[in-house]
Amino acid sequence: MTAQIINGRAVRDEILAGLQQDIETLKQQGVQPGLAVVLVGDDPASKQYVGMKAKKSKEIGMYSEVHALPSTTSQEELLTLIGQLNESDKIHGILVQLPLPPHIDEKAVIDAIRVEKDVDGFHPVSVGNMVIGDDCLLPCTPAGIIELIKRTGTAIAGKHAVVVGRSNIVGKPVALLLLRENATVSICHSKTADMKEMTRQADILVVAAGRPGLIPGDYIKPGAIVIDVGTPVGDVQFEDASQTASAITPVPGGVGPMTIAMLMSNTVKAAKQIAA
Ligand code: GUN
Repeated sequence: MTAQIINGRAVRDEILAGLQQDIETLKQQGVQPGLAVVLVGDDPASKQYVGMKAKKSKEIGMYSEVHALPSTTSQEELLTLIGQLNESDKIHGILVQLPLPPHIDEKAVIDAIRVEKDVDGFHPVSVGNMVIGDDCLLPCTPAGIIELIKRTGTAIAGKHAVVVGRSNIVGKPVALLLLRENATVSICHSKTADMKEMTRQADILVVAAGRPGLIPGDYIKPGAIVIDVGTPVGDVQFEDASQTASAITPVPGGVGPMTIAMLMSNTVKAAKQIAA
């Protein structure tokens, strides 16, 4: 079997084209969705992500602010900025790029973001609403993964989904979203006794371990859908795995572009809800 390559860039472009129309309609009603992206310090990867988020938001007609602060910024200064963005009528979505420098308490910063503007879905109230299954802004990468799986045309309900990784940003939330879609879900991590035995049961395998090349082809059930969240290098051995899977995401060009699409989608949704 040679797997279908899941083209995240094409799906992203389709979603952004739809959002561009939504934004045009909102503008005619006097609302321009606005996104504020906050970066503290000068980590090159974070800078690149923030640049892409700002560029895409402008391209589709959003209002965009980038706050690039020095690594010496105090927690108090950052919290003051977030307070201002919470109050700003121009801003409907606030994203603070993680990780933050070690002298800043990440949790205190996330807690300070107004839940209605929490387009990352990281605020404890957003997480709680997601667990309960209430309507809320969903974390971008997990929501993008669900969208990619759905677009393969395979039903999620009743499938065994195995998630490798348990981070708050991807592993845990994607497991919950798969459960919400009625998959039977297993979560594996670095202490899992027999990883291969688990992953070989997966009809849907999501790998978000941050360990380049962790999953070889013989860890994959024939015909499985494989979603690789690793970046900048995949966690799945792509050439090998694509001989066994029925569909697989490449790195780059798979999950990464979807994170941006879902961020834009969340910002438009937040703008609609705040304006309503
Ligand atoms: N760092 C890595 N991924 C993310 C993300 O999705 N959002 C934020 N804010 N920071 C990140």
